[in-house]
Amino acid sequence: MQHRIFSGVQPTGNIHIGNYLGAFRNWARLQDDYDTIYCIVDLHAMTVDYDPVALEKARVDTAKILLALGVDPDRSLLYTQSQVPGHAELAWILGTMTPMGVLGRMTQFKEKTAAGVASNLGLYSYPVLMAADILLYRADLVPVGDDQRQHIEVTRDLAERFNNRFGDVFPIPEAYVPETSARVMSLTDPTAKMSKSDPQMKSRISLLDEPDMIRKRIRSAVTDSDPQVRYDTAAKPGISNLLEIMSACTGEPIESLVDEYASGGYGTFKDAVADVVIAEIAPVRERFEALENGDVREVLRVGGVRANEMAGTYQSEVLRAVGVGAF
Ligand code: AMP
Ligand code: TRP
Repeated sequence: MQHRIFSGVQPTGNIHIGNYLGAFRNWARLQDDYDTIYCIVDLHAMTVDYDPVALEKARVDTAKILLALGVDPDRSLLYTQSQVPGHAELAWILGTMTPMGVLGRMTQFKEKTAAGVASNLGLYSYPVLMAADILLYRADLVPVGDDQRQHIEVTRDLAERFNNRFGDVFPIPEAYVPETSARVMSLTDPTAKMSKSDPQMKSRISLLDEPDMIRKRIRSAVTDSDPQVRYDTAAKPGISNLLEIMSACTGEPIESLVDEYASGGYGTFKDAVADVVIAEIAPVRERFEALENGDVREVLRVGGVRANEMAGTYQSEVLRAVGVGAF
C-alpha cells in the first residue's frame, strides 16, 4: 500500500534549523515517493496566549517557508487546519475516548505549564487534536522531530481503541524520525532543545537569518573549554550538537567529521559548521523573499478546499461507525 504521510507545524514564527533538520527537510524529500499532506495547525497555535493579527500573518509566513524549502503544492496538499472543520469534529469524538490521566502525563503539557503558560482545556487536549489531524486522513507515517514521539504514541493508542470498539477504520500510524538531528539543541544551552519560544534569539538559527548572523550565532555557541572536537553528548553537549548539525547538513557520518576536525581547534570547526549551514539554508531565505503573499494565500485556499473534500468523505465513515451524523 502507498504510504500516506501527514504532518503539521504551528504557525508561530521563528522556524529554526531544528525544525528544518528534524522535520521539514523530510517533508520535502518524502514528496517524491509518497502521498503527502502538510498542515499549518492554526487551531493548535490558539492553545497559548496569541495575537489574532500576528496569527493570521504567521499562517502565510509559515506556508511561505514551507514552499521555500521545497514543499510543492503540485505534489503535496498544503493548507491550514481551520479550513477543515473535520479536524475539530474528529478531535471531539476521540476526546470522548481519551483517559484524562494520559493527557496529564504529556511532557509538552507538563513543560508548558511548569514554564508558567496558563493551563486551559485546549492546551490539555492538544494531543487529541493532533491525533485527529493524522487520523482524519488515514495517514500511516508522520515525519516529526523526537519531541513529538509521545504524541504519536497517543495517536496510535486512540486509533487502536477506536478500531476495537467501532471496527477497523484507522491505520495505526508511525512516527518517521531522522537518525541524526531529530533533536537539535539550543546554541546557548546545549542541554535543552532548540525552541521557537526561547526568548534568547542567540539560542537558535532561524531559517531566515542572513549568512553573517548565522556565522555569528555558531561562533558564539556555548561549548566547553577542552579544545578537542569529539562526539560525547554528556561531556561535550555543545560540540556534539554542532557535529550533529554538520553531519545532517553534509550527509557525512559524525566519525569522519571528528577525524577531520579533531585537533584543529574550535574556531576552525565552528567556521566549517557555519559554512555548511549557510550553504544549506541560504537558498531557503532567497526563495522565501521571492514569494508573493497573494500567491501563497491562493495555494492555501485551493489546498483547503481539496483537503476539506477529502476529509469529508473519510469523516462520514467515522460518523457512521460511532452512530451519529447526517440522516
Ligand atoms: P514546532 O516547532 O513545535 O511547531 O515543531 C515543528 C516540527 O519540528 C515538529 O516535527 C518537531 O518535532 C520538530 N522540532 C521542533 N524542535 C526541534 C528540535 N530542536 N530539533 C529537531 N526537531 C525539532
Ligand atoms: N504538535 C506538533 C508540534 O508541535 C504539530 C502538529 C500538530 C503535528 N498536528 C500534527 C505534527 C499532526 C504531526 C502531525 O510540532
